[in-house]
Amino acid sequence: MPLPLPRPESAPSPEMAACKGRRVVVALTGGIACYKTAPVVSGLVQAGAQVRVLMTEAATKFIQPLTFQSLTGQAVITSIFTSDENLESPHIAIARWADVMVIAPTSADMIAKLAAGICDDVVSLVACALPRHSEGSHSQDSGSQGSDSQGNDSQARHSQSDPSQSNQSSPPRSLMLAPAMNADMWANPIVQRNLKTLDELLGVEYIGPGEGWQACRTSGAGRMSEPAEILSAIARRCALLA
Ligand SMILES: Cc1cc2nc3c(=O)[nH]c(=O)nc-3n(C[C@H](O)[C@H](O)[C@H](O)COP(=O)(O)O)c2cc1C
Repeated sequence: MPLPLPRPESAPSPEMAACKGRRVVVALTGGIACYKTAPVVSGLVQAGAQVRVLMTEAATKFIQPLTFQSLTGQAVITSIFTSDENLESPHIAIARWADVMVIAPTSADMIAKLAAGICDDVVSLVACALPRHSEGSHSQDSGSQGSDSQGNDSQARHSQSDPSQSNQSSPPRSLMLAPAMNADMWANPIVQRNLKTLDELLGVEYIGPGEGWQACRTSGAGRMSEPAEILSAIARRCALLA
C-alpha cells in the first residue's frame, strides 16, 4: 500500500515546475555514483513529480533501497519477480505508467544490456518495455548537456542520428541515461558502439557524462553528471511532454 506523502510546502523552481504531476521512473545501476541519485529523487519529489525507483541488485550494494523508499514514500523495485498487489505484471505496468525513465547512474553493463536487448533485471526489463509513441521524436530539441569521451557536447551525438534510421514510432526520448564509469571504460570502443546503437535505434537522451574526479581516484571522462544537471534535463524532457 503506497504511503500518503505530504505535499511539498514550497513551490518548485520555475524550471522544475514542468515536473509537477509527471510520472518519472528513476532507475539505478551499480556504481559509486548511486549516492548522487538521492538528491535527484528528492528534487523530483519536491517538484511534485510522482516517482518510482528501480534498482539493479548491483545498485543495492552502493545505496540502500530504504533511502529511496523514504524519499518517495513508495516501495523500491529491485526484482523482476516482485509482488506488488496493484500490479499484475509490474514491469509492463511501470513502463506504461512512466512519462519519463531516467537511469542514473547507467553502468557500462547496463548500456551493453540495453543495446543488446537483454532484459534479465528489472531496470533493463522496464526500459525494454517502454511503449513506443507515435508522435515522433523530439530528438533535436531536448537540449541535453554533457560531454562525450572527446569532451564534445553530447547533443552532437544526438543530432548525428540518421532520421531515416529511426522508427517513426520510436519513443520521443523518454528514456534518459546518465552514464557513469571509469574513464578507460568510457573510452572503450565497445561502450561507445553500444551508446551509438542506443541513440540510433531507440533515440535515448544522454545526460553527460562529464569529466572530473572519479571514484578510482583519477580524473577523466565518465563522471556522472551532477544532480542539478540531471534534474534540469528531466525538467526539459517533462516540458516537452506538456
Ligand atoms: C566499487 C565498484 C565501483 C563500480 N563502479 C562502476 C561504475 O561507476 N560504472 C560502471 O559501469 N560499473 C561500475 N562497477 C561495476 C558494476 O557494478 C558491475 O559491472 C555490475 O555488474 C553492474 O551491474 P548492473 O548493470 O546490473 O547494475 C563498479 C564495481 C565496483 C565493485
